[in-house]
Amino acid sequence: MSATKPRVLQRGRLLPFLEAQLALRYDLHPLWQEADPKRFLATHGGEFVALATSARLGAGAELIDALPSLKVISNFGVGYDTIAVERARERSIQVGYTPEVLNDCVADTAFGLVMDVARRFSASDRFVRSGQWLQGPYPLATRVSGKRLGILGLGRIGQVIARRASGFDMEVRYHNRRPNPSAPYTYESSIESLAQWADFLVVVSAGGPETRNLVSSSVLRALGPKGYLINVSRGSVVDEEALVQALEDGVIAGAGLDVYADEPRVPERLLAMDQVVLLPHLASATQETRQAMAELVLDNLDAYFATGKVKVGVPQPA
Ligand code: 8YV
Repeated sequence: MSATKPRVLQRGRLLPFLEAQLALRYDLHPLWQEADPKRFLATHGGEFVALATSARLGAGAELIDALPSLKVISNFGVGYDTIAVERARERSIQVGYTPEVLNDCVADTAFGLVMDVARRFSASDRFVRSGQWLQGPYPLATRVSGKRLGILGLGRIGQVIARRASGFDMEVRYHNRRPNPSAPYTYESSIESLAQWADFLVVVSAGGPETRNLVSSSVLRALGPKGYLINVSRGSVVDEEALVQALEDGVIAGAGLDVYADEPRVPERLLAMDQVVLLPHLASATQETRQAMAELVLDNLDAYFATGKVKVGVPQPA
């Protein structure tokens, strides 16, 4: 290992391609292989200038503090709610992430959940496999085309979901903290009013303390017994206990979920329901998109070491 290569700490497992490239370009150390990571960092923390991590594991303040020479964090993921960005900012540590390249696949997943939860493809697949079709036809489902799609968080991914919806002749409205003047969709000034209007409420807002439990029991009541909730952002944006209760009580018709409050643990009560579609946080998980994300993780590190700035950094506070 050349002594001139920058020393990079790898927080958890990453794609084999990404791990191989990181090991080729840098003096890479896998923290996940350490039996006692805290003890390792107490001795070696000062050696690392860069950290490669993922949206799942992130980099909390404690880890950042344990790396006194850290200059750059490269995150595999568009979400950075698990990264103590404020602490990184205080120390002028650059934080790179992977927006844009996953927009299409996350939007496809959101739309897949809309289709599945309304037309009940997964549920009717269980019906066929269990032999119940032999006893009679599957009950009628709910139409998607021409319905109303409410988007909570009309950002990069939300806009792609809105485009998908136009192919299904759906009317789109949205709610953000502020209206987006360039968006050709009606703005609803509250989440409740958006939910009240929508047949499908799709949650795409970023995670973190500012959006915690935005989808509350009152939002679910507004969505109503014919409404469906779709979540492809973070479990923290939805009050999960309120959601489970609303589903059990028929307050809403169903839910399509890719994310949960405490992944990979999914509440037992949700597992027992037939009107929910439960995915294992796979919205961006295609070969093509994950490859593009991996390349951006590398580009961000390479750009930092070439220019002192990552290629795509997390936004600075307004
Ligand atoms: C990935 C994600 O599952 O980009 C994100 O924020 O949640 C997903 O694309 C995640 O990055 C894997 O750690």
